[in-house]
Amino acid sequence: MQFHICVRDLGKGRKEGPERYLLHGCYKVSKGDTILIQAAAGGVGFIASQWAKFLGATVIGTVGSGKKAELPRAHGCDHTILYRKEDFASKVKEITGGRGVDVVYDSVGQATFMKFLDCLRPMGMMVSFGQSSGTVPPFDLGILSAKGSLFLTRPTLMAYTAKREDLLAHATDLFEVVAKGVVKIEIHQTYPLAEAGRAHRDMESRKTTRSTILIPVDQTMLTLRCVEGGHPIASLLCPEDRNAYILCINWLFQRRLLLGKLNRLAFRLLACLWPNSDRSSGFATYLQIRSG
Ligand SMILES: NC(=O)c1ccc[n+]([C@@H]2O[C@H](COP(=O)([O-])OP(=O)(O)OC[C@H]3O[C@@H](n4cnc5c(N)ncnc54)[C@H](OP(=O)(O)O)[C@@H]3O)[C@@H](O)[C@H]2O)c1
Repeated sequence: MQFHICVRDLGKGRKEGPERYLLHGCYKVSKGDTILIQAAAGGVGFIASQWAKFLGATVIGTVGSGKKAELPRAHGCDHTILYRKEDFASKVKEITGGRGVDVVYDSVGQATFMKFLDCLRPMGMMVSFGQSSGTVPPFDLGILSAKGSLFLTRPTLMAYTAKREDLLAHATDLFEVVAKGVVKIEIHQTYPLAEAGRAHRDMESRKTTRSTILIPVDQTMLTLRCVEGGHPIASLLCPEDRNAYILCINWLFQRRLLLGKLNRLAFRLLACLWPNSDRSSGFATYLQIRSG
């Protein structure tokens, strides 16, 4: 049952990511390539770095702060650059012996796009796939020729997975590398769907790393699990969402299931909601809310 939604594609819900088309479609990453991945501790960057390393590339990952640097280094990146502090174009030239990288995967957009063109080798490829800092403004195509006959693409996942067979190929490849243990998907923060605003604020303030998940409260799923498993699954799924508990108790009430084991379950749910109350006062508060 799919009940997780990636915040980065809020509302769409998806099982495959852009990493496969970035590394195989826009530019085919192979052994011997040196590539640069922006925001390597972020959702896409964290997965793409590991996958690119598996494909045989030397991976340079950028991060916005020192405390994020360790993460990509331990997951695929041969080098990390603090791009808000260091002169990343010079650093890249230093790492590549003056040549520049074969491809830049840029998800940050406006704040850094132009400078990242300077990291490419002649005829290198700029894959501008995101805009975490804002969209890249229109610019003079002559810049691409002046900087070494560069290639530029602005791709989207939708175009690369529009055909059913492409979608399946993307999903299959991703699941394969995950199953092999080559790519680790780390869900580092989860939020109840009701707190999507907080999730967005955390992302905007660059507090998040790796994957971020929203968890919708699905009454049927929660309550069925409650009954089947005999434990308050709501507290596991949505520890901060009071509504999840209330929905569960409502469901039990509606079906007159407050007997035996289920009775105990209902009281455990009430105790989660009002930890300091005894059974009867918790129950009374609940009834008050229902009638109000
Ligand atoms: N084209 C496609 O098919 C496709 C598919 C998926 C995602 N995307 C796009 O790719 C971008 C990254 O997605 P993601 O899921 O990896 O996002 P994410 O997990 O939120 O990571 C984004 C990272 O970008 C960096 N960043 C730089 N400037 C920022 C700013 N002003 N505000 C917030 N973060 C900023 C931060 O890392 P540091 O602190 O390390 O700088 C942040 O952690 C997004 O723009 C998304 O829309 C495109």
